[in-house]
Amino acid sequence: MTFNAAHLLGIEHLHPTEITTLLDLADRYAEESRQGIQHKDVLAGLTQINMFFENSTRTQSSFELAGKRLGADVMNMSMATSSVKKGETLIDTALTLNAMHPDLLVVRHGASGAVDLLAQKVNCAVLNAGDGRHEHPTQALLDALTIRRAKGRLHRLSIAICGDIAHSRVARSNIMLLGKMENRVRLIAPPTLMPSGMQEFGVEVFEDMREGLQDVDVVMMLRLQKERMDGGFIPSEREYFHRYGLDAEKLSYAKDDAIVMHPGPMNRGVEIDGTIADDINRSVIQTQVEMGVAVRMAAMDLLARNLRAKRAAQTNVAV
Ligand code: NCD
Repeated sequence: MTFNAAHLLGIEHLHPTEITTLLDLADRYAEESRQGIQHKDVLAGLTQINMFFENSTRTQSSFELAGKRLGADVMNMSMATSSVKKGETLIDTALTLNAMHPDLLVVRHGASGAVDLLAQKVNCAVLNAGDGRHEHPTQALLDALTIRRAKGRLHRLSIAICGDIAHSRVARSNIMLLGKMENRVRLIAPPTLMPSGMQEFGVEVFEDMREGLQDVDVVMMLRLQKERMDGGFIPSEREYFHRYGLDAEKLSYAKDDAIVMHPGPMNRGVEIDGTIADDINRSVIQTQVEMGVAVRMAAMDLLARNLRAKRAAQTNVAV
């Protein structure tokens, strides 16, 4: 088994074999969760702290459930009402937490790079649950597992990522993961929501949905990240839906068996038509949520193994 990292901060530094190791384990956890098989021993005796500086429902509950299914003691810190609001710096918060000796720290933060910084200050395994516009590794991994299960493989697929690329950490992590696994990635967005120089990532760039969706295997829609916009990115939501919203007509340009994905939360009628989102023959949005728990179980399991091995090595040196 190959997965040597101490933290899961992003996709950028993961090797394809590490990605495969993680997805294989997550696949097993997904099957066993369906069968009701418990694994309370895996994280038994370990403390997991979820620190969400940005609001989140699905990601936080997914990490919480994953930890509980593996037997961790899970604590949620609501950072929106914490000392951070009283002026405490991120580093001070980290040092305070570190003194409580957590084993797994799950962090979401509005600033790109904040989670990497925090990981340098603590003695436990850190998982990035989304930092600014930077990375959201477990989202890309759960998307990859969903694709692999639906398509039977995770290479040589044509995958379109559509919408607000500019503000999306989900897009960034997915572009890196899907590229590492040798897929063809197409990005479709209005010029105002497409960062410049994206071709350097080995992707194809499109402004027109119908052109970009031509014969793709996977259509991944992104939420319009209004909270990260300071106005002026789109003329109106109605106009945006008309040109970039996924409806049956635009989807008809993709392959007949193309799957539709969305990381959630969705803006129905803005980036996606509600009927497409609910179409069980095309949409795998609910499977993404299911795979999210499995991927987070796998990530925490692998990091905990490495953490235990590191601590055992330190104890041996000390003796
Ligand atoms: C994503 C996020 O937070 O980056 N959502 C999520 O993890 N559930 C995408 C989004 O907010 O649009």
